Amino acid sequence: MKTKHVIDLESLSVSELMEIIELANEIRERPQDYAEVCRGKILATLFYEPSTRTQMSFKTAMLRLGGSIIGFDNPQNSSVAKGESLKDTITVVGGYADIIAIRHSLEGTAKAASLYSAAPVINAGDGGHLHPTQTLTDIVTLYNEKQTLDNMCIGLCGDLKNGRTVHSLIKTMSHFKGNSFVLISTPELSVPQYIKDIMNASGCRYSEVRSLAEAIPMLDVLYMTRIQRERFKSPEEYEQQKGVFVLDTEKMKLAKRDMKILHPLPRVDEITEEVDYDDRAKYFIQTVYGMYARMALIIKMLENADRKPMPRRFDTHNVRCSNPNCITHTEPYLPKIFRALGGDMLLCKYCEGRNLI
Ligand code: CP
Repeated sequence: MKTKHVIDLESLSVSELMEIIELANEIRERPQDYAEVCRGKILATLFYEPSTRTQMSFKTAMLRLGGSIIGFDNPQNSSVAKGESLKDTITVVGGYADIIAIRHSLEGTAKAASLYSAAPVINAGDGGHLHPTQTLTDIVTLYNEKQTLDNMCIGLCGDLKNGRTVHSLIKTMSHFKGNSFVLISTPELSVPQYIKDIMNASGCRYSEVRSLAEAIPMLDVLYMTRIQRERFKSPEEYEQQKGVFVLDTEKMKLAKRDMKILHPLPRVDEITEEVDYDDRAKYFIQTVYGMYARMALIIKMLENADRKPMPRRFDTHNVRCSNPNCITHTEPYLPKIFRALGGDMLLCKYCEGRNLI
């Protein structure tokens, strides 16, 4: 792989993504051939935010490859509780581990970590921004369950504003041929403008609809997501949004016979339990594909990884990112790095927030 860190799957080409899918499938078929490939290597999992699947599948992946694991799943049990900065934690852990997976509630944290780590960094979810290894999980699942990643009508339903898995999946599936998207949400939880810009730039057709029952007959894939309670400003705002979209057996009667249901999980109330027994429900096998996807990613990242820290970065603009959930607000030493988008617009390189100057 050309890229050292995986912060966003945009840094991987379509052929690199296909190599990861093929390797994941090879490992699934012949796990014994890969049981020692990471012997002597250490994965650090730094989870500043709760997780079941991502954290455990990363750990399981490294253990099944013969490697070892260190890390924390509660920063209060680390020196973060004493006020240690992200920079210092990462500098130290990057000296202990061969590869780091980091999850954080603030957007841009994995990018920030990559500035200070000698070891390769994997974004295991940064706030409402991106979740690239969930997308690897999703595309390994789709490739195996649909035998293609092209020419699909993909419905995404639920919290499309805060759902980082949705953002990463749209970005990636926009690079494959002929895909279109049906975005099923309330107006308040629709996808951010920068994701619409990506679909427009790639020429992918998309529509925004408010009814799951109306959308479901046209879909090849339905990607359900939960309403992300932890990202709302108040409990009242969450209460207004929860329970609007529920997939049940009645709606499944309207769906194509070969439609596949994916969900990054955890589920709250958006898929009823009886749908689990429909053979189109793929969200539990998806979690298993995720372990193989992460095994393949770890192997590929360790193949050519150097241990050189990135050169020191300096401010590109004297501007503070306007996204209140951007990591730059809590780690103020971070260099202010922006890309000029033309006109008066700057893109924050950490969180992809748009900033007017
Ligand atoms: N899909 C996912 O990220 O699940 P966890 O939050 O349990 O890791």
